[in-house]
Amino acid sequence: MAARTLTIDGRLVSARAGESILEAARDAGIHIPTLCYLDGLSEVGACRLCLVEVAGSNRLLPACLTPVSEGMEVQTATERLREHRRAIVELLFAERNHVCAVCVASGNCELQNLAIQVGMTHVRYDYLNPVCAVDISHPQFGIDHNRCVLCARCVRACDEVEGVHTWDVAGRGIHARVITDLGVPWGQAETCTSCGKCLLACPTGAIFRRGTSVAELERDPKRIAQIVAARQERW
Ligand code: SF4
Ligand code: SF4
Ligand code: FES
Repeated sequence: MAARTLTIDGRLVSARAGESILEAARDAGIHIPTLCYLDGLSEVGACRLCLVEVAGSNRLLPACLTPVSEGMEVQTATERLREHRRAIVELLFAERNHVCAVCVASGNCELQNLAIQVGMTHVRYDYLNPVCAVDISHPQFGIDHNRCVLCARCVRACDEVEGVHTWDVAGRGIHARVITDLGVPWGQAETCTSCGKCLLACPTGAIFRRGTSVAELERDPKRIAQIVAARQERW
């Protein structure tokens, strides 16, 4: 496959044609924060945490969706980008109720890790304190909408890997919620096979296994990519 040469943070990097800036950076050991991206799933560019600066473009571009090109000059960690990412993470914390002392993902949460990575020490925005439901109608799993960051990783894992599309997103803006089937409680969603892939994909404690404590939470998002790779080898 044709190769492309570009610079990322001043380093000369080789990438395959068609690869995204995010993939090229990761291959070169350069870390770009992400939230909605998950190896093995399609890219949706929803969270905007992976925004980078590309010479010649006034706009910040999402690294997960922008293909590399010959001679491209990319910056991934300027002060402008750092401030942008910090603001995004603060807004995520302000939008719902991420009181993690009671969250099963405590210590195992990509949102918490992102807050540390971007140097968030406090939230500059007003907390919205929405009234969000917890649905434990499913016999094995539950969803706490307070913890959901609307990354749609559960939606894509269920649709693209399990192939049943139980999850979807309904509503707009601050009223948006992930729903199961046509908005029925998860336990009544006839399409759900109880495979647990949405639990693996979820970056926070929004989707959890019922009855698990913080120490027992088993959530390994890398397993989604492993399942996809194993299938590709078989087929
Ligand atoms: S358990 Fe499996 S089938 Fe059910 S909602 Fe989650 S990913 Fe979809
Ligand atoms: S439930 Fe989890 S995986 Fe699904 S959108 Fe919310 S945070 Fe993302
Ligand atoms: S990881 Fe690229 S927009 Fe979310």
